[in-house]
Order: sequence, then C-alpha cells, then structure tokens
Amino acid sequence: MPPSELQDIPPAPSGVALDIARVRAHLGASRLGATLHYFQEIGSTNTHARELAERGADEGEIVIAESQTHGRGRLGRRWESPPFTNLYLSFILRPKLSPRHAPQITLAAAVALAETVGSFLSRPPAIKWPNDILFDGKKLAGILTEAACDEDRVLYVILGIGLNVNYHTGAMSAELRQRATSIADLTGTNVSRESVLARLIQDMDRCYGELEESGFEALRPRWEAHFALRGRRVRIDLGDQTVIGFAQGIDQNGALIVEDEQGQRRSIVAGDVIPLET
Ligand code: BTN
Repeated sequence: MPPSELQDIPPAPSGVALDIARVRAHLGASRLGATLHYFQEIGSTNTHARELAERGADEGEIVIAESQTHGRGRLGRRWESPPFTNLYLSFILRPKLSPRHAPQITLAAAVALAETVGSFLSRPPAIKWPNDILFDGKKLAGILTEAACDEDRVLYVILGIGLNVNYHTGAMSAELRQRATSIADLTGTNVSRESVLARLIQDMDRCYGELEESGFEALRPRWEAHFALRGRRVRIDLGDQTVIGFAQGIDQNGALIVEDEQGQRRSIVAGDVIPLET
C-alpha cells in the first residue's frame, strides 16, 4: 500500500479504540502481522509475546495493546502507556541468526521505525544508538528487544515498540514532557493510529526481510543516515564504568564505536548514551 493511501485514513477522535480490521486490510501479503493479538489493556505486550513464543507462537505474530499497566522500557525503566493515544506492540520473531548477530534486529527495527515516523513528518527523525527515535533531541519512540538463545541459535526475539502518536506533551507526566514528543505534537494535528500501525508493520516486514536476505550491511547506509550522534562527544554509562569520548558509528554487529579521551577505539555492546556539550 503506498504511504499516501495509508495516510488517507482519517484520524479517529481521541479516546477511540484502534480499528484492527482496517489495519489488517492494509497489510496485504506482509509476512509479519498475519496474526494480530489485540488487547484493550495488558501488563506488557513484550511479556505476553514472550509467553506466546514459549508456547510455540509463529514468527510474525504481533501483540498490540491500547494500554499497558506495566509497560517496560530499557534498563528497568517504566514506559508511560496511556490508552487510545499511542502504539504499543511486540513482534515475535524467529530469525535465522547466531546469538552474536541478534542485536542487528534492533538496528533493523530502528531503521524501519525511523522510516515510518519520517513518512509522517516534514523531515526524518534521528536514531540514537541503539534504539531511540528522536526528533530535535526529544524522544518519539523506543525499542525493547528481548531474546531467548541457546548456544548457537536464536530461539526467538521479542521486539517491542512504543511510539508516541497522539500523546500531546500537555498530557504527559511532568518528567516525560521535558524529553519526549509525539507525531501529533510535531505536526500540530492528530494522525490515524491505524495508518501509522499498518505502515510500521509493513516497514518492519521489509527491513527484517532485507536483514535476513542480505545482512545488516544492506541496511547500514540508512541506519547511518539517521544516526544522531556521529562526531558528538558522549558519555556512556556501562553500569560499573563510564566511558567519555566521540561517537564514530557502528560496527558490523551493531556495537557503537567510540574514540575515548585517550584516543583508544572502544566498541560498546550495551549501555546508556548521553550526548554531552563539546
Ligand atoms: C525504551 O526506549 O526504553 C524502550 C521502550 C519500549 C516500550 C515498548 S511499548 C511495547 C513493548 N511492551 C513493553 O512493555 N515495552 C515495549
């Protein structure tokens, strides 16, 4: 479905549930999203998707909820999940990747999410490694990836996405308002969540397919084009350690490359990145 047609779906008045039949009708032959599990309220779509995956759910099944009582962010943070306003969804994936390459799924999802969001805005958003989508430094969306692996195989990946769609900053908690935004806030008008959701599933389907067929190198130029931190001085909190340096890019496994203050090239696999003033 061309994006223009998807964007022709008029936004429902706020407070109205997603029209899942309409989303399904737009998905066509998309491999992801053949089964959509829809809930008005759930603890966390990631937790439920993991339970389904453990019980043998197929690749491409998606859990979608209008609201989450225990929405989870990275590093044990809470994800604000008010009803009928945003998108909260989790994909069940069974990629043919070695555990070493599993982080590439998050990178591919970041490309898909940036492309989806960009199609509703006047210019593309930025990716903040590894998994935040920002616009002018404010967070629009986040990705929480959880994987189950054995020694040499990924058994399943749960890819959770939270995307602020019609969440006006005035309705956000005071703490969130400082650092978050939404598509509606940026465009000045509510958008159809069905359009955004259908587009996101299609973009994920496409980017995941490219990753499986051609590897991350096929997606890397688009990831790099959205990369927000290149050349920026950053602090990376690694839990027990902090690294300060200049962000250079990512390697083929998705690790962040930083040149530290001693001029050493460091490869960061996981951590919280905070941009610093130069
Ligand atoms: C982050 O930026 O910290 C990641 C946020 C991920 C939030 C989404 S909302 C849908 C899915 N279910 C969850 O509990 N979390 C993810």
